[in-house]
Amino acid sequence: MTEGRIVAGALAPHPPHLIYAENPPQNEPTAECGWEGLRWGYERMRADVAATKPDVLIVHSPHWQTYVGTHLLGVPHFKSLSVDPIFPNLFRYSYEMNVDVELAEAIHDEAVDAGLEMKMMRNPDFRVDYGTIVSCHLTRPAWDLPIVSISSNRSASYYGVEVMQEMAAALGNATRKAVEKLGKRAALLSSSSLSHRHFTSESEIPEDMSMEHVSSHALYLWDMQMIDMIKKGQTRQMIDIMPEFITQSISEMDAGSFAWLMAAMEYPEEPGEVYAYGTVIGTGNAVAGWYPKGALAR
Ligand SMILES: [Fe+2]
Repeated sequence: MTEGRIVAGALAPHPPHLIYAENPPQNEPTAECGWEGLRWGYERMRADVAATKPDVLIVHSPHWQTYVGTHLLGVPHFKSLSVDPIFPNLFRYSYEMNVDVELAEAIHDEAVDAGLEMKMMRNPDFRVDYGTIVSCHLTRPAWDLPIVSISSNRSASYYGVEVMQEMAAALGNATRKAVEKLGKRAALLSSSSLSHRHFTSESEIPEDMSMEHVSSHALYLWDMQMIDMIKKGQTRQMIDIMPEFITQSISEMDAGSFAWLMAAMEYPEEPGEVYAYGTVIGTGNAVAGWYPKGALAR
């Protein structure tokens, strides 16, 4: 058994457009091109994560929303068709994945010990959410690693961003403990974008890049501030300003995915690697990575 640790953590946003533009065999619609900056950034992140030789991908997704506690996929194999509810014209993706149920159960148990409400999802016909699918595909298109998928309990909606962040931090700590106990090498994915105001209509050719731009200068400034903090290793400060960032930029980070990742990685102070920034239907997306000392030999 190898030494268990988190070998990589990534900000891995999930616009289905990036898969659409890549034309993998699993996706039915085809595109001519599109969103190259983000896709080339993902290619570099992919190579770095692969170099850490992970055993498993653990993803926290804003699009698996559970309102009573946090759930984890608890079935060893899933195979089905995922159709994006907003963009069925771009994303009709045949997925097939293996789940590391043992690790999912260990995270469940650690989180219960920490006082969180948790549940294993045991329905074999469950439709895996597209946030999980897109982030995992873009990080590891070969699907040759098992995954663990964790829901967002959306307590930001019920209580507030601070409560969500606190619960996500407890979940992050539980995730790290479970990884270490089981001796796994885990790569963690925070499946979320930055600013999230998007266009309300689509251009005739979705991949027409002459139509793609930031939704506003104010939100662009917010995104640049967050990226600057990633580059400076100011991850605790990022969590501190998260309530304001989320309110001002309607960020998807209200789901807790980023707070979960940072707590699991114990708030890295090393500069994060920013692979790309780009907009998708006006939303701000960064692809970034953190690698604990010794996990990635450069
Ligand atoms: Fe999303």
